[in-house]
Amino acid sequence: MTLRTLDSLGSLEGKRVIVRCDLNVPLRDGVITDDGRVRASLPTLNALINAGARVVVCSHLGRPDGAPDPQYSLEPVAQRLSELLGAPVAFARDTVGESAQDAVASLEDGGVVVIENLRFNAGETAKDDATRAAFAAELATLGDVLVSDGFGVVHRKQASVYELAELLPSAAGLLIETELDVLDRLTEKPERPYAVVLGGSKVSDKLGVISHLLPRVDRILVGGGMLFTFLKAQGHDVASSLLEEDQLETVRGYIAEAAERGVEFVLPTDVVVAASFSADAAHETVSADAIESTAFGASGIGLDIGPETAARFAEVIRGSKTVFWNGPMGVFEFPAFAAGTKTVAQALTEVDGLSVVGGGDSAAAVRQLGFTDDQFGHISTGGGASLEFLEGKKLPGLEVLGWA
Ligand code: 3PG
Repeated sequence: MTLRTLDSLGSLEGKRVIVRCDLNVPLRDGVITDDGRVRASLPTLNALINAGARVVVCSHLGRPDGAPDPQYSLEPVAQRLSELLGAPVAFARDTVGESAQDAVASLEDGGVVVIENLRFNAGETAKDDATRAAFAAELATLGDVLVSDGFGVVHRKQASVYELAELLPSAAGLLIETELDVLDRLTEKPERPYAVVLGGSKVSDKLGVISHLLPRVDRILVGGGMLFTFLKAQGHDVASSLLEEDQLETVRGYIAEAAERGVEFVLPTDVVVAASFSADAAHETVSADAIESTAFGASGIGLDIGPETAARFAEVIRGSKTVFWNGPMGVFEFPAFAAGTKTVAQALTEVDGLSVVGGGDSAAAVRQLGFTDDQFGHISTGGGASLEFLEGKKLPGLEVLGWA
């Protein structure tokens, strides 16, 4: 089975097209701090507008409790979308109620409305199938067809992602097509050498991807909070750095499996250790096997990879033909601990081959550090979704569109 794409829906002129986007953007005090996901939705929305469709955009934002919660309103997102499209975008104050029905009924060909956060309705994320199906049936009254384009949410079996796609004629949008093209190249015959750079706080979030990619890659580079579980597994003290004791055995198993397969785990040789978890904390760079030797002793916290490690990572990355990166190398939100992430991001921009940044945090990191999307081969809009894809899992939101 192959993915159903936009052309399978025929002419969309005058039709009400529900577009399930992932517009789950980070907000601070009601202001969008990274609009990458809104921009990524534009190719599909412009194609539909140009085709004369009546476009009904829906998305979740955050994790509200199945009821309206103003801090998670999609209104600022609708405003940003209007700026980016250069066209008016209506906003409905509910998802399937009177406001949404009226706004959709008033749409003209080529017009756009954003309906309020899907997750203000308990049926969107309900555990039982019948409740989700009932909410999907309500959503279905707003459209004639569904274009599913929220790649970041295809790993969730939720009403607008799964049941709605069964109820209405449905197809994937251009963003999902692009994401799959790129992620497929990471799993099917990637050009070698192939390096995977993993960071972020938790090893437990990355286990599936490590085990699925181990037989496929040449090198796995480990940074971020998760590096301390690797160092501990090798017998080093890590002071008060982040540690997942319950993953030590698994990590040792991966290190042994990698050695058998001839895959190199490139682990940090130096780290930046801070007195506390704060932007202005005193800090020292130490060798990875002497973390407790800083002035902070056993209370020191590792917050970034060191310069020697960053330089080695950059060298490996630049020498690779395929690179996938997920997870920051350190606490990049604090400038004093952003150097490792910046060096890795810079090296990815210099890859002579395919470089892919996956995951909300890594995407936010590269943009916050001043890089632009066009410097990379691809920045995935999917955090959990891209990881689960690379783990080889079946994703419900893709299966329902014919992807197998
Ligand atoms: C994400 O940010 O990874 C997606 O929007 C999915 O959000 P969720 O983890 O709250 O389902």
